[in-house]
Order: sequence, then C-alpha cells, then structure tokens
Amino acid sequence: MSQKNLMYVTLWLLVQLLVVEINCQMSAPYKPKTREKHTATLIDNKLYILSGRENNRIDVGKDFFYLEIPDKFNTQNLIWKDLSNIDILPPHYGAAAVKGGVDNNTLILYGGTNDTGAMDLVYTYSLQSNSWSIPKITGDDNLITIRKESLSGIVDNKGKMYLWAGSDDVSKKFHYVNNMLILDTINLNMGKGSSIGAPSGRSLYGATLLSDNTIIYMGGHTDIEQLLTLNPVYLYNTINDSWSTKTTSGKIPSGRVGLSVVPGLDDKRVIIFGGTPFTTDYADLTPEDSIYELSLDNFEWRIPKTSGQIPKSRMFHKANVIGKYMVISFGRGPSLESDILLLDISNNDEYIWTNEFDSSSLPTSPAPPPSSDTTSKPKVPSSEPPSTSSSSGVVPPSSSSRTVMIGAIVGSLFGGAALSFIGFFLYKWNKNRNARNYYNNDEYHGHEIVQPPNDTTNHQPRSAPSSDHQPRGTPASIIIKGGQKSANDKKLTLRELQQEIQDLKQIITQGNKQSTSSIRNN
Ligand SMILES: *[C@@H]1O[C@H](CO)[C@@H](O)[C@H](O)[C@H]1NC(C)=O
Ligand SMILES: *[C@@H]1O[C@H](CO)[C@@H](O)[C@H](O)[C@H]1NC(C)=O
Ligand SMILES: *[C@@H]1O[C@H](CO)[C@@H](O)[C@H](O)[C@H]1NC(C)=O
Repeated sequence: MSQKNLMYVTLWLLVQLLVVEINCQMSAPYKPKTREKHTATLIDNKLYILSGRENNRIDVGKDFFYLEIPDKFNTQNLIWKDLSNIDILPPHYGAAAVKGGVDNNTLILYGGTNDTGAMDLVYTYSLQSNSWSIPKITGDDNLITIRKESLSGIVDNKGKMYLWAGSDDVSKKFHYVNNMLILDTINLNMGKGSSIGAPSGRSLYGATLLSDNTIIYMGGHTDIEQLLTLNPVYLYNTINDSWSTKTTSGKIPSGRVGLSVVPGLDDKRVIIFGGTPFTTDYADLTPEDSIYELSLDNFEWRIPKTSGQIPKSRMFHKANVIGKYMVISFGRGPSLESDILLLDISNNDEYIWTNEFDSSSLPTSPAPPPSSDTTSKPKVPSSEPPSTSSSSGVVPPSSSSRTVMIGAIVGSLFGGAALSFIGFFLYKWNKNRNARNYYNNDEYHGHEIVQPPNDTTNHQPRSAPSSDHQPRGTPASIIIKGGQKSANDKKLTLRELQQEIQDLKQIITQGNKQSTSSIRNN
C-alpha cells in the first residue's frame, strides 16, 4: 500500500471511530418530560414530538425528539431519541405540524404560541439535513401575518396544509377565528380558503382528513365555558373549497375540547378519543365516555366495543394512525403524561388497548424519495436510492446527558486534532509533490468524481468564517476518494460515507456550540 493510500485509510478510520464513538454515546436513553398541546408528526416511520406545555402551564422548553417506530415494541419500553440540541424554535405550544414539503418528507410547523408571540410563522425540519429552517412564506400580507394557535393542521395528498380556525393570538386575548388558511408546503405560499358556510370560530377542536379529500371538523370551544357540541359535524371539501354541515344521530358524545380524531382503517368511520368538558377545570371524561366512532355512511355515532387494559381518558394529547394502531401521545389524563397509548383498531367489532405494537401484519410503507431543500429551488432529483445510513445512522447526541456532551466535545477535540494533524501532513505532502491545491473546494469539485451531496440542503453555516471547519471539511472530502477501497469491504456507498461525514460535521458544529442564529439567516 502506498504512503498516500495508507494516509487516506488512516484518516477514514479515524472519522469512522469518531462516528462510532458518538453513536455509542447517543444510546443513553432519553426520558421526555410530561406535556400537553405538543405536536406529533409521523415522518419516515419516526414520530416527531415538539414542545408543548407543562403542568404549571408554562412551555416545556425547546424539546424536540422522536420515537423511531420499530417493527415491534412495547409501550413500557420506548426508546426516544433527543434532537433538542438542534432545535431552533422558541419554546411554544398549540402549533400545527404536518409532513410535507418538496420531498414530502419534511416536518412543517405553523403557528403556536409561547405567550409572547415572538415566534416565526413557519418552521421546517428537513430529515435529509437534520436541520431546521425558517422559510420565507409568500402570499398576501394579510395572510402571512395571521398567526394562530390551538388549531389542527391537516395536510392533503397534494402537500397543502389546511389551517382552519384556532385562536388568533395577535390580539393576545383569545380571539377565536373561523378563517381557512391554506399553506402550500411545496412552494411555501399562503393562500386562503372559503369561510362561506364554515362553522363559527373555535379552538381545540378535532379534525382529520377523509379518503374523499374532505376534512371533518367537530367540537372545540369558543370560550372557556362555551363548549361546542359534536352534532353537527362540518365537512370542508378540499377539491372545490366548500363547506357543508352534517347532522349526526345515534349516541352523540357530549361537547368536548382537546379531543383527537383519526380515520378508521376502512375509511368508513372516524374514531374520537378523549378531550374535556372544560367547565370544571380540566375535568376528565370517564373511560366509557372517552371513545366514540362516527360512521361516514350515515353519520351515526356509536360507542365501539373496546377490550384490553382500558386507560383513563386524556385531553390535549395527539393521535396518529401508525399501522393498525391509533397511537396516542402525551396529554393530560388527568395528570400530565409522558407516554403513549396504543389502540388496535384493525377489528371494527372490537378495538383493543394494548402495550404491544406489532407491525408484522402491516403493509410496508414505501421508501421516501431522496429529499431536497424546502427553502430553495428544488434540485435535480437523484436517481440513487435513499441511503439507509443517512436516515437512521447518525443522530446528534443527546443534550440531556452531561457525559454525552462531554464525550462529544472530547470526541470532536480528538477528531479535530487528529484531522488537523493529518490535514497538515497532507498539506505538506501536497506541497512537496507540487500537486494541486486540494484545499480549494472549487478545484476539488472540478476534477473529482465525487460531488459532496446536499450542499444546498445543509443549513449548517458552511461558509461561516470558522477556521475550525474549513480544513476539516476538506480532508473529509479527500478521504472519500481514498476510502473507496476499504469502504467497499464494508458495503458502504460513497454517498453513505459522505452523509456520515456531513452528519459528523453537523454534530461537531453543535458540539462546538455554534450559534444557531446563523441558520436563521441562511
Ligand atoms: C417566547 O419566545 C421569545 C423569542 O425566542 C423569547 O424571548 C421569550 O422569552 C419566549 N417566551 C416564553 C414565555 O417562553
Ligand atoms: C405524501 O405522502 C403521503 C403518504 O405518506 C401521500 O398520501 C401524499 O399523497 C404525498 N403527498 C405528495 C404531495 O406527494
Ligand atoms: C363540492 O363537491 C361536493 C362533492 O362532490 C358537492 O357535493 C358540492 O355540491 C360541491 N360544492 C360546490 C360549491 O361546488
């Protein structure tokens, strides 16, 4: 092996070591705080939870974490992964979040409040670059200045996010509106839907998208004491932008706020869970009164048969359908919770509360397309399959544990020193050989086969005047070339390796406490 190759391999191994080290440290379990009025968004088989409010009704803080949904798990043994250290959002609650964006794999968050209103209107989290951005929303000034909270965000299959009603907190005194804002999550334009025939303004209602592209709305309140009933229910047709009202029959549930609504697996019903009558300070519903379903054939309510260990009711939680389960996260019931509940809704004759999630009988969700940026022009789509290591391999370390942070810092110092040393060595070697200047990235791009991916999708301050990052980036790029041979042995594609290095750079950036404000300006 030539001296040159030896050097590349050594450098590559060092980076791998650092990656492995950080991977090990991240495995320290993260215990989320209890919360309500958070958001819970399923993207790429991960349930992302953001912020929310605690018992004293104060924001929980800059909490951002996810639950990777394995094929099987038990709710008593959840493995949460903390991403709070890359969160750029102020603490908040009552926001609306969906999966959307150009890649249909980006978390889009609208509205919410932190009681001062000092938040941007929309934030996006790219799973591709593991970073948050604040996109510029285009549209009428009258629309892009409306911020609302305690509303539901419903996304259709064209990437449009429907933001009906809620409390318009610009006035800071619970001003319930019934306007329909429509955020196109692909071109980041805010539009407006019809309010003709729309129900009165309200917040903390229940809503979900039905298979015929209508959104069903029900419940909520206009005032602390003024509950809205669950009869009638309201349908908003996203195709022709029109409202209709449906009178319901059967066992109509009492009025409630902070409930959740999900579609049944057969698309013939919606299932509601929890909420509170809200009149006597967050009174809980009884378990018997907490779950109902509404037939979409005849709009008749009934109480479905449930079995298993029936839990207490909850309010201000979130519910997602994952596989054959209604997955209920956090909320108040009557004390605040930090767990999830599973209701198996696969059998219409009997829903089963369970602790065991098992996806073995589920259809596998298609792999998401390679993503691109939501804040800038879409890139030419790559024909490569998405890298597995980029979606599940490297995650920034948890900030909850001191040892992890210390480990990461020591690790990055060690890695930095080693890379600097080898970088210097390479530099000398290059100089001696009178070779091209590898430290010039443009030249590097000009004659090498490998293009570092996602240059524009990475919101990290690449061009920040940090002498720390430039030299580190360059040797990392060089290794890709030399590391090819050994990488093949480990069945690592160049792309994966690049992704790892990119993730690594990001981790190091955070480890070095790089200010997130530069992300804002990006
Ligand atoms: C709301 O966010 C702003 C801006 O980040 C911050 O200055 C303020 O302290 C936050 N308020 C609360 C109650 O957290
Ligand atoms: C996004 O993905 C969902 C499935 O998760 C799909 O139903 C929807 O149509 C997709 N949206 C777009 C804009 O492709
Ligand atoms: C919108 O479409 C629905 C369903 O096709 C139809 O019943 C309704 O009359 C339409 N409304 C308008 C205003 O066109």
